[in-house]
Amino acid sequence: MHPSIRDKVVIITGGGRGLGRAMALGLVKEGAKVAITASREGAELAQTAEDCRRIGGPDCVLTVQADVGKDADCERVMTETHRKFGHIHVLVNNAGRGMSYVHNDFTKARPHFWDIPSDTWRMMMDTNITGIFLMTKAAVPYLLKEGWGRVVNVSTSLITMQRKGYLPYGASKWACEGQTVIMAQDLEGTGVTVNALLPGGATNTKMIPGDLNDKTRTGADGNLFEPEIMVPPIQYLVSDLSNGKAGDRYVAKLWDSKLPPEEAAAKSRFPCKRSRTY
Ligand SMILES: NC(=O)c1ccc[n+]([C@@H]2O[C@H](COP(=O)([O-])OP(=O)(O)OC[C@H]3O[C@@H](n4cnc5c(N)ncnc54)[C@H](OP(=O)(O)O)[C@@H]3O)[C@@H](O)[C@H]2O)c1
Repeated sequence: MHPSIRDKVVIITGGGRGLGRAMALGLVKEGAKVAITASREGAELAQTAEDCRRIGGPDCVLTVQADVGKDADCERVMTETHRKFGHIHVLVNNAGRGMSYVHNDFTKARPHFWDIPSDTWRMMMDTNITGIFLMTKAAVPYLLKEGWGRVVNVSTSLITMQRKGYLPYGASKWACEGQTVIMAQDLEGTGVTVNALLPGGATNTKMIPGDLNDKTRTGADGNLFEPEIMVPPIQYLVSDLSNGKAGDRYVAKLWDSKLPPEEAAAKSRFPCKRSRTY
């Protein structure tokens, strides 16, 4: 994609599987160093780290078991990453908890919000919203010190944010994009940009009900993309090609790899900000 990706230090939350794993492998392939996190699945982190090393050599990856909903864990991700690599350039807030925590067949069941246990609501919001805040708050001092930085918040399609039966997930992704707009403005002029990135449809990960190897299954929107769809836009966002671009949402399925990256980015980019004032 671009030589400026080489040696960038990128933290990817939820990097052990799914979209996070695909982005980690895609960045290591371009010479980046990655710190991947997960709150529970140490074996998935270890497997992804081994696969990263096969591509990028013995020193390209760090794993940290840490919950994005806990202040101390977020601070620890920063100190351990900085200790290993000496820099932090990019934070990808990818960790997320999906609707399967509400109902294991949520695409068909469409659960009512009044049946959601309050603890389930809080647990999902702790990861999907508070996690972005805590991780970004912990990362910003390191990014400001570099005078160059990126925060990328993994969002979802507008149709999913508004779908019947999709609380609290849908609301958490509205908030993800609200945070993106405000954080981007707060960081204006610092060299650190904030954007959102989404696949543009259901993607083949453990977030979607059913077996990962069953290619006939689809999400509620009828799609099933592969996680690698995220790789070209995340490579662009980590590179210097995206300098100065902030407050936007990039839709991975609209990325046309046959085009030069700046043209492909322009076609997949939309403002997060709504232009009306009320
Ligand atoms: N798959 C889709 O169709 C789709 C579509 C649009 C957007 N997205 C978004 O893409 C992102 C990645 O999802 P995915 O589809 O790849 O799902 P996934 O396969 O379930 O992966 C989620 C990752 O997040 C980690 N995680 C969850 N809670 C965490 C916490 N509190 N602290 C740290 N890590 C945590 C998980 O590890 P542990 O379980 O070990 O914590 C796992 O590594 C999410 O933000 C999701 O909302 C997905």
